[in-house]
Amino acid sequence: MEVIRVKDAQEGGKKAFELIKDGMANGAKVLGLATGSTPETLYQEMTRSDLDFSNMTSVNLDEYVGLGGEDTQSYRYFMNDHLFNKKPFKETFVPNGKAEDLEAEGKHYDDIIAEHPIDIQVLGIGRNGHIGFNEPGTPFDETTHVVELTESTIEANKRYFDKAEDVPTHALSMGIGSIMQSKKILLLAFGEAKADAIKGMIEGPVTEDLPASVLQNHSDVIVIIDEEAASKL
Ligand code: F6R
Repeated sequence: MEVIRVKDAQEGGKKAFELIKDGMANGAKVLGLATGSTPETLYQEMTRSDLDFSNMTSVNLDEYVGLGGEDTQSYRYFMNDHLFNKKPFKETFVPNGKAEDLEAEGKHYDDIIAEHPIDIQVLGIGRNGHIGFNEPGTPFDETTHVVELTESTIEANKRYFDKAEDVPTHALSMGIGSIMQSKKILLLAFGEAKADAIKGMIEGPVTEDLPASVLQNHSDVIVIIDEEAASKL
């Protein structure tokens, strides 16, 4: 893992943007994308730039079960609002959280990933070390699946909802197996709340108890962290 330390999320977004730009100059065609507060500065850089994404495909990590693109808290809405409405892509994929048959939707999403192998996967990290919505204990070979969110994740995500009871209890998430097949991974983390997870990911054992630790087994991972997220290294 290469670790790049930056001053703050602003600088981290710029650094991540430069790496994506370089990747695209070298032929990257498919970006794996994340939602949440972490990639917001990256998406700002992308939307402000004059870079053309109209030949690019994106494959997002996850979606809440029960929310559709019209729901302002859905990840599809977040992506349209933060990126795709401002920077059109050729094709954008987000799991369908309203699919009647969620298992079939998982298989369908795996087919999409197989047809569009991810060149650069952008990741955030949960306080408990989750990547995508792969919570502690998720097998490393998992493909797209339905996840029951942990209390800590519901607690962390309730800031986007009126009350904690409104946070969906389940999500559809790309699995760790699919994330690990991405050619290159950029993991971003900002703020003190991520310091323990970052320490475990980089210095701890590779264990399903801290899903992001699996990235130690990937040959091309760049970690971009601010001083606070790096404070326990
Ligand atoms: C979001 C995702 C999650 C987040 C993580 C950190 O698509 O897959 O793993 O990256 O929960 O969230 P933030 O960035 O809000 O701290």
